[in-house]
Amino acid sequence: MLVGCSGDRSILDPAGPAAKEVAWLWWGMLTAFTLVFLGVVGLWLAAFRRRESPRRGEARERRLGLAWILGGGILLPGVTLLVLLAFGVPAGQRLLPLPLPGGEAPQVIEVIGHQWWWEVRYPEADGGEVITANRLAMPAGEPVDFHVTGADVIHAFWVPRLGGKIDMIPGRVNRIRLEADEPGVFGAQCAEFCGAQHAHMQLQVEAMERDDFEAWLAERRSPPPRAEGHDLARVAFAEHCARCHRVAGLSQGTTGPDLSDIGSRATLGAGVLAMEEGAIARWLAEHQALKPGNRMPAHDHVDAETLEALGAWLETLAP
Ligand code: CUA
Repeated sequence: MLVGCSGDRSILDPAGPAAKEVAWLWWGMLTAFTLVFLGVVGLWLAAFRRRESPRRGEARERRLGLAWILGGGILLPGVTLLVLLAFGVPAGQRLLPLPLPGGEAPQVIEVIGHQWWWEVRYPEADGGEVITANRLAMPAGEPVDFHVTGADVIHAFWVPRLGGKIDMIPGRVNRIRLEADEPGVFGAQCAEFCGAQHAHMQLQVEAMERDDFEAWLAERRSPPPRAEGHDLARVAFAEHCARCHRVAGLSQGTTGPDLSDIGSRATLGAGVLAMEEGAIARWLAEHQALKPGNRMPAHDHVDAETLEALGAWLETLAP
C-alpha cells in the first residue's frame, strides 16, 4: 500500500493544480469514509450489547427497527453521498478545459495511444511538424491541453502527479487540461488494460520553462544533424525499418514509433530498457523476449553485425 505514497507516479505528491484537486478530494473522501467506517463499527458493536427489553411492547420494537432502517439505511448514506457530491462536482468542473479568462489559447499537445507505445505530436509547432514517441515535453507554469485518442484499442492517459486519467478512444478525441507548477520529470502510465504489454506502456513527461520548451521544439523542427559514415546502418534502415518508422528528413513510416530523437530518450520500448550504450542493438536483437507480443517483427533474418551497426547509428539520432 505504501509504495503508492511517493515516487514519480504518486497521486499523493501532486505537482499541478489538477492533481492537487484530486489529492484534496482523495484526503477528503478518506476522512469521510473513515468516519462512516467508525460509525458502522460502532453500531455493529452496539448491536451485540442490545438486549430485547421485555418492558417494550412489540409495536414499539417494530417502530424502532423501522427508524433504524430509514435513518441508517437511507438518510445517512443519502446525506453522506450528497456532501461528497457537493465537493466532487465543483472539483470536476474546475478540471474541464474551459476557455481561459484572458482569452489565450493554451498549448495543445496531441497524444495517441498505440499497442504499446505513445505517439506525441505538437500541432502548433510552426515551421515543421514535431513528433516524438514515449516522451512528452511540455511547458511548466501554464495550462496545457492534451487532445488524446487511441490508434487501435482503448488506452488511458495518466500522469499521476499532474492529474488525469482520461480514456484514449479510437475515433474520438478526448481533452484534458493539465499543468505542472514547476519544471520536472514525471512518470506516466497507460491506465486502461489494453493487452499483454499494458504494463510496459510508460511515458516520460518532462515539464520545462517556456524558453526551454521552445528550444526543445526548435531542435526537433529541423532534421537533426546526422553523424557521418554508418553506411551499413543507413542501407539496413532503408531496407528493414523505414516503412514503419519515421526519422525526420529521412523516412515517413507511421506504423511504429518516431525515431527522430531516439538517441536522447531515457528508455526503450516504452519503459522496458534503460537507454545506454548498446541498448538499442540489444533491443533490436531481443525485443520479442524483452516485450513479448510487441508489434515489431523479430529480426531473426538480419545478421548480428547489421543490428549492431543499426543500433550504433540510431544512438546518434539526437538533437
Ligand atoms: Cu495502453 Cu494499457
